[in-house]
Amino acid sequence: MNGQNGDGAIRMSRRGLLRMGAAGLVGGSLLARAQTGFGQASAQPGPNTEAAYVPRPRTPQYRFRVGATTLNPDGRRATPGITINGQYPGPEIRVREGSMLRIEVENTLPDEPTSIHWHGLLLPAGMDGVPDVSGFPIAPRQVFVYEYPLLQSGTYWYHSHWQLQEQIGMAGPFVIEARDEPLRVDHDIVVMLGDWLYRSPYAALTALKKGPAKPMAAGAKMADMKPDLADIEYDALLLNGRGTRDPWTYQARPGERIRLRIINAAASTYFRLRLDGHPLAITHADGLAVEAVTVDYLQMGMAETYDAVVTLSGSGSYTLHAVAVDGSGQAIGVLHTPDAAAKPNLAMPTFEGRALSYGDLRAVAPTALPPGPARPFTLALQGDMAKYVWTINGQVYPKTDPLLIRQGDRVQIELRNETLMWHPMHLHGHFFRVLQGAGERAPFKHTVNVAPRETVRIEFTADNPGRWIFHCHNLYHLEAGMARVFEYEA
Ligand code: C2O
Ligand code: CU
Repeated sequence: MNGQNGDGAIRMSRRGLLRMGAAGLVGGSLLARAQTGFGQASAQPGPNTEAAYVPRPRTPQYRFRVGATTLNPDGRRATPGITINGQYPGPEIRVREGSMLRIEVENTLPDEPTSIHWHGLLLPAGMDGVPDVSGFPIAPRQVFVYEYPLLQSGTYWYHSHWQLQEQIGMAGPFVIEARDEPLRVDHDIVVMLGDWLYRSPYAALTALKKGPAKPMAAGAKMADMKPDLADIEYDALLLNGRGTRDPWTYQARPGERIRLRIINAAASTYFRLRLDGHPLAITHADGLAVEAVTVDYLQMGMAETYDAVVTLSGSGSYTLHAVAVDGSGQAIGVLHTPDAAAKPNLAMPTFEGRALSYGDLRAVAPTALPPGPARPFTLALQGDMAKYVWTINGQVYPKTDPLLIRQGDRVQIELRNETLMWHPMHLHGHFFRVLQGAGERAPFKHTVNVAPRETVRIEFTADNPGRWIFHCHNLYHLEAGMARVFEYEA
């Protein structure tokens, strides 16, 4: 298997980012912009009175119009949603490593703010799109221009970071092609997974807060309880925005190599994936290259991405299954050869053979952090199912104390999951090392799953000053408080 080197490496240092930013982005400090909320450009006079940053007159590569739409992704029920350019998934961003990216986002919603977060990207804090952490939300009828250098390559995604908009259609794939791509394939395609509700997610969250569906028996202790696999009962699971009735299909010839860029863009669903009759060669995790490892299936938390290379074994139709871990359903896609019709296999697959585990992930080069003062944190992931409040060290976001660190710190985090649910913990603006078995080749990720009652250790270097949210990527856990903010200055 190819793909041992290069793609996905972070090739530019923080200093490079600053240099590039100073030269190519704005004539000033990115940090200053982040802190003053510059970057807000008004299309017309509106309710927001923030100082306007007027961007240089250059055409954006992408124009996103955020608006209300009716969506019917699985063909069974039309449901109100909010989308980008009327599409779900949102438009695929495909750009080159090392270039500048400029995306104009217009909020056409009459009465609701929005904000887009570029998930997994190393960018200046002011471009990170988290309201009240790194900037302002984009007010109704306002335009914001995101502009930042692309310092990395790989498979990422973007989504709204405003309330529950991500659940109702505001998410899309973001692919950065490597400057030197060692991986040779015949096809390079995105597989984006999602979950879908026919009812309002706001109503679903309110229902969760009203009390547990399964009441805890009097006197029951946590220790006697089984892990909970899901918060929400979904009406449909989606692959590239489609349900099982009319699934996404893709055609390739026997023997051709297909790079599947798999993104778990679900709001609250863990998936297990397998492709009928084919092993999956995992080449990248969260956008970055790993030593290729071949598995029969993999489990993905929300917000993780994996690239898997498959070689079509022969003529036929092969179904890619993405099954919710609670067994409630699956999303499918179908790969087929030109001489064979796409024939969806709707049978639930069994998951046997080798599964991918974090212990299998080895970076393609040593990832040891540069020396720096150790800044240890123990963060307990906690939940109160009765009230449906999710916390980190007992604090409910946004009423949390900042986690103060300093530029150059080596931030070491022990994540202790004291709950019975999985939590895919995601850090903005940095990659962290997942310290689980690979020694000096510990992989860099932006999202790490923490299993019920498990403890996971991660570490990162504070090399991108600003305020950065660290949160559970279960959208309902985030909304119910499971987030903290790391904060430091240059
Ligand atoms: Cu996908 Cu706060 O992130
Ligand atoms: Cu969580």
